[in-house]
Amino acid sequence: MAFSLFLAAGALAALTLYYVIQWLIVCRRRHLMKKQHGCLPAKKLAQKDPFLGTDIVMQNLTAAKNYGFLDLLRTRHANNGLTFTTNTYFRTTINTCDPTLIQNVLSFQFQDFGMGPLRRKSASPLLGQGIFTTDDEIWSHQRALIRPSFVRAQVTEFSIFGHHVDQLISLIARRNYKVDLQQLFFRMVLDSNSEYMFGESVGLMSENASEAAHTFHHALDYAQQGTILRLRLGNLMFTHRDKKFRESCDTVHAYADKFVAQALEYRRSQDALPDEKKEREEGGGRQKYVFLNELAKDTSNPILLRDQIVNMLLAARDTTAGLLAFVFFMLARRPDVWDKLRADVLEHYCEPLTYEALMDMKYLRFVVNETLRLFPPIATNSRMANKDTVLPVGGGPDGKSPLFVAKHHVVTYSTFVMHRRAEFFGDDVEEFRPERWENLRPGWEFLPFNGGPRICPGQKFALTESSYTIARLLHAFSGIENLDPSDWREQLTLSLTLNNGVQCRLVPAA
Ligand code: HEM
Repeated sequence: MAFSLFLAAGALAALTLYYVIQWLIVCRRRHLMKKQHGCLPAKKLAQKDPFLGTDIVMQNLTAAKNYGFLDLLRTRHANNGLTFTTNTYFRTTINTCDPTLIQNVLSFQFQDFGMGPLRRKSASPLLGQGIFTTDDEIWSHQRALIRPSFVRAQVTEFSIFGHHVDQLISLIARRNYKVDLQQLFFRMVLDSNSEYMFGESVGLMSENASEAAHTFHHALDYAQQGTILRLRLGNLMFTHRDKKFRESCDTVHAYADKFVAQALEYRRSQDALPDEKKEREEGGGRQKYVFLNELAKDTSNPILLRDQIVNMLLAARDTTAGLLAFVFFMLARRPDVWDKLRADVLEHYCEPLTYEALMDMKYLRFVVNETLRLFPPIATNSRMANKDTVLPVGGGPDGKSPLFVAKHHVVTYSTFVMHRRAEFFGDDVEEFRPERWENLRPGWEFLPFNGGPRICPGQKFALTESSYTIARLLHAFSGIENLDPSDWREQLTLSLTLNNGVQCRLVPAA
C-alpha cells in the first residue's frame, strides 16, 4: 500500500516536472521570438479584475442591454488608441481597429489565424460544418464548392429579385403606405434568396404565406438567437440547455433537407441524360438557375449540402436586409439625400431595369457605400491565433511596434469603429454624407465585406440586390416621411440591425 502510494506520488511529481519543463521551454521560445522581432506589448485596458475580466464582461453586457455596445467600443478605442488588449477568462484579446493589423491577420498572415474551436462549437448545432465556422482543408473545400456559383451572369440577372420587389411594393400599398420597412426587408430578402438558393421561395411576402413558411421563419430566428447566445457565453456554453433551440435547428434542417433531396434527384436525372442533350439544355438557358443544384453537381453528400445552404441563407439574409434598412432609415431623416438619389435613379431608370442602368446610378453607389461605412452589417469580428506569431504593428504605446500573439489568443477587430475614425474619413465622420465617395478610394480602412481569402463571396450579389431594390423603391415612391423621432438604436445579432426598425410612411409616385 505504502509502495503504491509512493509510486503514485512519484508519477505525479514526474508529470508535474514534465509540464513545468514544457512550460519553461515555451516561455523561453516566446521570449526569444519577441526579442528577435523587437516586439513590445500592446497597451492594456485598465481592468479591476485582470484574470477573469469580470468587470469587462459586465461592462459589455450592460452596454449591449442598453443598445450601446458599439459606442462602448468606440470610447475604449478613443481612450486607448487603435490597438489595446483585454484579459477575460485567463485569455488575452487584442482589440484593434488598425487597418494594417487587420490586413495582416486576414491576408498576409492568413495561415496563422482561424475561426477557432469556440466559434465552431457554438454555431455547430445550426450551421454544422458550414463555411462560416470551419478552417483549413474543410473550409477551402467548401469555398471551392461555392465559387463557381457566384458567376457574373447569374448575379446580373434581375429576374431573381424583380418579382419579390413587386410583392414588396404591393404589400406597402396594402398597408396604406405606413410600414416598418426593416421588417419587410427581412422577409423580402429571405423570399428572394431562398428562391435563388433552393429554387423555391419561402413565400413570406405573399398574402397567404403557408404555415410551413412561418414555422421555418420563426425557427430560423430562434436558432440564430440561440447561436448568438452560445457565442456570447463562450467557455460557459455548456450552461446553454434550451430544448426549443435544438428543435428550431431541427426544423431549419428539415426544411433545407427537402430541397437537398430535390437537388440530388435533379442531379440523378441530369446524370441519366445523354451528354449532348445536357449541353443543349444548359446552353439554351432553359433551366432556372438554382444555387443548390449547382452545388449538387460537385457533391452528393446531403449533410454537406444542407450545411452549405443554411450557412449561405443566414449569411445573406440579415446582412442584406440590414443594409437596406439602414439606407431607408437615413433617407427618412435626410430629405436632401432622398431628392438627390431619386433624381439620379429617375435619370437612368429604364423598364425593365438593367444592370447597366444600375451601374450608371453613381449617387446610388455613394449612398450604399456611405451606409456601409456608418453601419457595417458585420460590425465586429474576430480570429484566433492557431500558433505563436508576430504582427508587424500593434505593440508599444503608439501601436507601431511589432506585437507578439500567443497561440489561442484572439484578435477582435471592429469595422464599425474603424469606419468612424477621423484619420481615415475626415473630421465629419459622424455625418451621413454620400458625396464624400466622389473622391474617396479607401484601402483596408473600409472593410464591410472583409478581405483576404475569406472575403465575402456574396458581395456582388448583395450589392446588386440592394441597389436594385433601392432603385425600384425610389422609382415607385416620390417621398418618405419619418414616423420615428428617435435616433438609431443598435441591435447586434449575427449582424447589425435597428432595434427600432424603420417606421415610415411612403408617398406613391403619381
Ligand atoms: C450587405 C451584405 C453583406 C455583407 C456586408 C457581408 C459581409 C460579410 C463579411 C464581413 C464576411 C466575413 C465573415 C467572417 O469571415 O467572419 C462575409 C462572409 C461570407 N458571406 Fe457575406 N456579406 C453580405 C452578403 C452576403 C450574401 C448575399 C451572401 C450569399 C449570397 C454572402 C455569403 C457569404 C459567405 C458564404 C461568407 C463566408 C466566406 C468564407 O468564410 O470563406 N454574404 N460576408
